[in-house]
Amino acid sequence: MCALALFPLAAALATPGIAAPSATSGDASNELNVLHWWTSASERAAADHVAARMAEVGLRWVDGAVAGGGGGAAIKVLNERTLRRMAPKVAQLNGQSMSEWADMGLLLDLDNVAQRRNWSRTMFPQVMAQLTVRDHVVAAPLGIHRINNLYLNKAVFKQHKIELPSDWAGLERAAQALRAAGVTPVAFSDEPWQVATVFEALLLGEAGPALYRRMMVQRELQAFDDPALERSFKRLRDWRNMATGPAGTSQNGAPRERPWTELVADFAAGRSAMLITGDWARGELGTLGLEGGRDFECKAVPGTAQAHLYSIDTLAMLAGNLSSQAEQEKMAELLGSAALQLGYNRIKGSVPVRRDVPVDELDLCAQQSFKLFANPNTPRVPSLVHRMAFEEVGKNAVIETVHRFALDPNQTPAAAQRKLQGLLRALGPKSVKAAS
Ligand code: GAL
Repeated sequence: MCALALFPLAAALATPGIAAPSATSGDASNELNVLHWWTSASERAAADHVAARMAEVGLRWVDGAVAGGGGGAAIKVLNERTLRRMAPKVAQLNGQSMSEWADMGLLLDLDNVAQRRNWSRTMFPQVMAQLTVRDHVVAAPLGIHRINNLYLNKAVFKQHKIELPSDWAGLERAAQALRAAGVTPVAFSDEPWQVATVFEALLLGEAGPALYRRMMVQRELQAFDDPALERSFKRLRDWRNMATGPAGTSQNGAPRERPWTELVADFAAGRSAMLITGDWARGELGTLGLEGGRDFECKAVPGTAQAHLYSIDTLAMLAGNLSSQAEQEKMAELLGSAALQLGYNRIKGSVPVRRDVPVDELDLCAQQSFKLFANPNTPRVPSLVHRMAFEEVGKNAVIETVHRFALDPNQTPAAAQRKLQGLLRALGPKSVKAAS
């Protein structure tokens, strides 16, 4: 793929008379400015791990973190900087939006690296599918997150002699017992992407992988008529209600919009006992000294134990004036290496993108996620919220619809389903490459 194809944004960037000399920023030739959204303690430590490995091969990671879980703010900054001809050399650009960037000729083609390092043989096919746009590799992979996790704080359950639940009836019983014991049963934030992250995991449980795929991958309008969708909205309401703190405690009251790291801190300290979220939370629990399997149980959201709702973190190399191509390729090669994969993912909570990495050194939860993902019989479904299924605009519109429902007690699950159906009709048929 040509680095600067004749598409409008790329053409505008190439117009003579626009001030900046280079379309990407970064001064010394070994410096690579990296735009990303990893700012929590574990995310930071994982990024620092990559930076340290880069330094060993003579590359300097110049940090361009933009705070905000889920990356909404980072993507806005990336768009803005690119339009101002100040694009970083490397950017966290996950999933579907990558094809739009590649089509505009903004991404460096990494086919040589992929061939040299035999990525098509070592990496999982779903990973290669995410990295590839129209037969060209346009990003380097970091890790695979699982989204449909249910975390249970073992010490809290033990202290109050409550049985660890695995189905909805058990969860509801546990919630009542926890509240009676003065503990907020569920950690929940009203931040839009966090609400929708819970929702997509619940949807997978209610719909099952085949129907989930018909909705989120094929975008089949009739699939959105299924009663499973209404049930998922109902579950979301129930789950959020379980996050109301017990009367008379400091946790009293309904959930609020809070950063995901605060939820993890509450869960770790035993102020809440149950949490549905992606396994970046497991990375964060690790930095707080808690270990999966020992201190907290990693279960799946009811109905999803055999399925893997995934999102894959990737770093794209911005083409710019091609002045850093050698360094960018060197970094991409390093990111895909077995040693880096193990070191980085151990901290981040995700699992390696390669089939050949010995994961027995990782905690039990990571081993479980890796084994499921590696098993060809596992239904693996892409995360909508984390950009594996829809392009940015459609994804944000779905998140907003789910969020509005969550915050409006007068909106019925049936009404939310109708709104989502209307939204999907308005978005029209799928226009980007299919997620696998
Ligand atoms: C996801 C990203 C993860 C994690 C999470 C919270 O979109 O894939 O790496 O950082 O956001 O910020």
